[in-house]
Amino acid sequence: MNYKNTATFAAEADQNDPLNHFRDKYLFPQFEGKNKIYFTGNSLGLQPAKAKEALRVELDDWAKHGVDGHFDANNPWYSYHELFKENLAKVVGALPVEVTPMGGLTGNLHFLMVSFYRPTDKRIKILCEGKAFPSDQYALESQVKFHGLKPEDVIEELHPREGEYHIREEDVLSRISKLGDTLAMVMIGGVNYYTGQKFPMRTITEAGHKVGAIVGFDLAHAAGNVELKLHEWNVDFAAWCSYKYLNSGPGSVAGIFVHEKHAKDETLPRFAGWWGTPSEGRFQMEKGFKPAIGADGWQLSNAPVLSMAVHKVALENHIEAGISRLIQKQKQLTSYLEYILTDISSTNDKINFEIITPEDRGSQLSILTHGNGKELFNKMSDKGVVADWREPNVIRVAPVPIYNSFQDVYRFGEIIIESIKELR
Ligand SMILES: Cc1ncc(COP(=O)(O)O)c(C=O)c1O
Repeated sequence: MNYKNTATFAAEADQNDPLNHFRDKYLFPQFEGKNKIYFTGNSLGLQPAKAKEALRVELDDWAKHGVDGHFDANNPWYSYHELFKENLAKVVGALPVEVTPMGGLTGNLHFLMVSFYRPTDKRIKILCEGKAFPSDQYALESQVKFHGLKPEDVIEELHPREGEYHIREEDVLSRISKLGDTLAMVMIGGVNYYTGQKFPMRTITEAGHKVGAIVGFDLAHAAGNVELKLHEWNVDFAAWCSYKYLNSGPGSVAGIFVHEKHAKDETLPRFAGWWGTPSEGRFQMEKGFKPAIGADGWQLSNAPVLSMAVHKVALENHIEAGISRLIQKQKQLTSYLEYILTDISSTNDKINFEIITPEDRGSQLSILTHGNGKELFNKMSDKGVVADWREPNVIRVAPVPIYNSFQDVYRFGEIIIESIKELR
């Protein structure tokens, strides 16, 4: 695309966008009678317009059937997750047996690490991002302590080189080979929450396996955002949340992936619950845990149907839009945003933007502000922009292809220009 920082260019780009009508399938917070410029799908995605109806169906069935809704509801709750397993699998590039919606992200990381982080005398190390999301850091530390080990002896962090913002692929690979047979597990984010860097998941998985380590990913910022082929890449395990790019609502049900090669391995230790047993025999309530085949065998509790109802319709939108079409639009939208930011940065003398997100990325751009970034951010927020601020001076913005438009990006630029003029 030959980008221009003009209203006409943005309007034409929207007219030519085959996904433009998906915008109407989402509810935007309002500002002065218009949609806000909502660029925070990397934190909480927008509500699908179908969500209320999906919830109403389940609430009505609950009112009508009470407990019998488990089998008599329009969408029987007992096997509710089966209704959207295929769509979930498509979003992360998996076989249906390899995924299941369950619990919350951090809890799921723990459950998966109980099975897949199995330190031995020599092989104890965990490789992770230095600036991982704090919950991941806490999860790793506490897992290590749970095994009676000390985090400082075990956790190996990856950092960007001096003066750089993202972690080089060659540095990840050389670290893996250096750790060699001391490396038990690689566990990093598919996309880093702070910089928006996408990691080369296939290459990292191959390198980890070459030294005999298990490889898992936290896909909080990757699921629904970037192309994933977890099965083909031979990833061992992964976990994600559904409230960011999967638009399934605050704290909604999360998801896990366990590669098919582990599907029938009953020897893997796990923290079990009744929902992890095969659904056919569950109500026989027998002693002795026998896991269901595949990711379902990691389930613990019965399905949170109300949040799953929203997740189900949100995934339907995603699949209808088409993952490859979404990614194609994403590249254009995010590059247009980058173009506009660079244009503004070079034509004002009050504030300078440095984009610290590399080319290999999803929707998010992390903008390092040189100048009074916080004041600029506050002024933009007052004018109807929803972005987020990360100390000390980064603004994260994510134009999301399923509901954001080129005109959103253009208007965002206009608001920045207006706000810069008001800076002291
Ligand atoms: C990378 C990453 N890991 C973990 C979490 C924590 O997720 P939860 O609170 O759903 O467990 C988040 C939340 O935003 C995240 O971005």
